[in-house]
Amino acid sequence: MDRIVISGGSALEGSIPISGAKNSALKLMAAALLSDQRLTLRKMPNLADSRFMAQLLASLGVEIEWPVGADIAHLHAGTVSSTIAPYDLVRKMRATFNVLGPLLARMGHATVSLPGGCAIGARPVDLHLKAFEAMGADIVIEGGYVKAAALRGLRGAHIVFPFVSVGATEHALLAATLARGETILENAAREPEIADLAACLAQMGARIDGAGSGTITIQGVDSLSGADYSVLPDRIEAGTYAIACAAAGGDVLLQGARFEDLAALAERLEAAGAQMTAQAGGVRVRRSGPLRAVDVDTQPFPGFPTDLQAQFMALMCQARGVSHFRENIFENRFMHAPELMRLGAEIQLRGNEASVTGVDHLIGAPVMATDLRASVSLVIAGLAAQGETVVHRVYHLDRGFEQLEQKLSRCGAQVQRLRGSEPT
Ligand code: EPZ
Repeated sequence: MDRIVISGGSALEGSIPISGAKNSALKLMAAALLSDQRLTLRKMPNLADSRFMAQLLASLGVEIEWPVGADIAHLHAGTVSSTIAPYDLVRKMRATFNVLGPLLARMGHATVSLPGGCAIGARPVDLHLKAFEAMGADIVIEGGYVKAAALRGLRGAHIVFPFVSVGATEHALLAATLARGETILENAAREPEIADLAACLAQMGARIDGAGSGTITIQGVDSLSGADYSVLPDRIEAGTYAIACAAAGGDVLLQGARFEDLAALAERLEAAGAQMTAQAGGVRVRRSGPLRAVDVDTQPFPGFPTDLQAQFMALMCQARGVSHFRENIFENRFMHAPELMRLGAEIQLRGNEASVTGVDHLIGAPVMATDLRASVSLVIAGLAAQGETVVHRVYHLDRGFEQLEQKLSRCGAQVQRLRGSEPT
């Protein structure tokens, strides 16, 4: 297993190109199943997760041209040869569950393994399934699989989500494009990835209003065409490097990042003593003065994203004062805290709340990555710490951060990957 070694203490200066958004790309890839024509996706992130989705789609009969390292992928679901997504492919990455809706909408039936829980929480899919039932699907859960059928096709429905779910909104949106009649999604998620998915589907001929707001209306069409679409820039990757710059100090341009997707983070960073500004070509981040403690309460967009909570906690470890965190989206998303404490952080956990008392300095140590965003928080802490930090189990990082060491190194950070086996 690879590990990442960081020698802390260097400020970050320069620019970092932001990749296409992982959490958008995965759903856009699933959209390829809705049409028998070719979907070209540009700015595709080369990540373990997106490659994994490609593997599942290929097993369903989708022809995929996506050379290693390329950021353009062509996906062509001319014929769908299988409507079964097996456990072995779905358990490794939850977003693969999102093939259920497109298969059901186009083929009238699908059998997809339940994704199961993951490190950050139980993450049920009941909202997804209720949406499909409202659209006329018969759903049975048997042997760990969701067996869904709508042999005469899905029909439009009025769906009111009891709480905001990004995945359920996207999944219902995908399926509704080919349902008969009108679908209204209320209390829909407003994350930028939803608007991105809707924009691509619209290019494929879908009729969608209101994506990005709390109410989305879809008029179903008989078929969708192909499209040539660019994935939006990854706001979580951009936010992560913004926090890294705030933690290490310096001045960095996040090339291609969209300020409007990062407003909640910008506001918290400003309060903490770092500046984030929209600029031609991206977003600039600077920090030279001391860091102040600020509180974080994770919320659906446009609130502070849960996917940046771990990174912001790493930042607060060296801020003056006490900061309070409340994680409202996932029930087990503080696994980075014990690892940050190995570097000398002072953190107290109580259920979904954490208090961080800033210390003068962190000191490098060996630490273990536990999930994607937790692992990058350890890299951020390592950049700001004195001495050497070694992050183990970096396969978590490779799920969502493309060329992390290269992007940080070109801004002056001392970060390198050691390949191969780890000492036990
Ligand atoms: C997406 O997960 C992202 N994943 C997550 O990013 C992100 O943290 C999350 O949205 C919130 O922004 C992808 O897009 C692939 P939800 P998703 O449905 O769709 C509960 C990362 O690090 N819920 O909005 O699964 C659920 O358990 C990942 O990149 C139900 O109870 O999130 C959670 O507590 C991690 N029933 C809450 O809702 C359901 O049917 C919000 O989850 C669906 C969700």
